[in-house]
Amino acid sequence: MPNHKHFSDRIALVTGSGRGIGRAIALHFASLGADVVVNFFRNRKPAEEVAEKIREIGRNALVIKANVGEIDEIKSMFHEIDENFGGLDFYISNAASGYNRPAMQQKPRGWDWTMNINARAFLFGAQYATPLMEKRGGGAMVSINGHQ
Ligand SMILES: NC(=O)c1ccc[n+]([C@@H]2O[C@H](COP(=O)([O-])OP(=O)(O)OC[C@H]3O[C@@H](n4cnc5c(N)ncnc54)[C@H](OP(=O)(O)O)[C@@H]3O)[C@@H](O)[C@H]2O)c1
Repeated sequence: MPNHKHFSDRIALVTGSGRGIGRAIALHFASLGADVVVNFFRNRKPAEEVAEKIREIGRNALVIKANVGEIDEIKSMFHEIDENFGGLDFYISNAASGYNRPAMQQKPRGWDWTMNINARAFLFGAQYATPLMEKRGGGAMVSINGHQ
């Protein structure tokens, strides 16, 4: 198993990691020796499958259902991470959703839904991630969302 000194025995949260790019990032963290929090919103089964793959690699995986568009759900996700791992090293904001409509057809509800998940989630996630990272002596946060 490849091991990297910067990632070995670290804890990584990757939002929206049951499928797509998030899944690839989660599995890559595990292959480098990190434990991974797999977050999903609608599709539990693929998220559980990612967690199973992470455990096969020999790392811990925690699956958390949370809609990152809701502040309360972001808060409880970080609380659960703290309860399980006592800290966090990496926060990768990857989850994305949205109503892709031409500007003249956008409606406030669809706009808010999109922005809350794709943009707002990273800011408030970062607020909750910070104390968990401070417990570990620091950390890193990355948003890979194209809407930032
Ligand atoms: N694909 C590209 O070409 C591309 C290019 C540039 C940037 N990006 C960025 O890369 C990231 C991933 O893209 P992707 O193509 O892999 O996306 P994707 O295949 O559409 O997957 C989206 C992921 O986000 C999760 N998700 C959706 N709404 C959520 C919510 N409210 N709360 C928590 N999780 C939620 C989904 O979970 P469920 O399965 O549970 O719904 C899924 O795991 C996005 O931030 C995107 O903007 C992608």
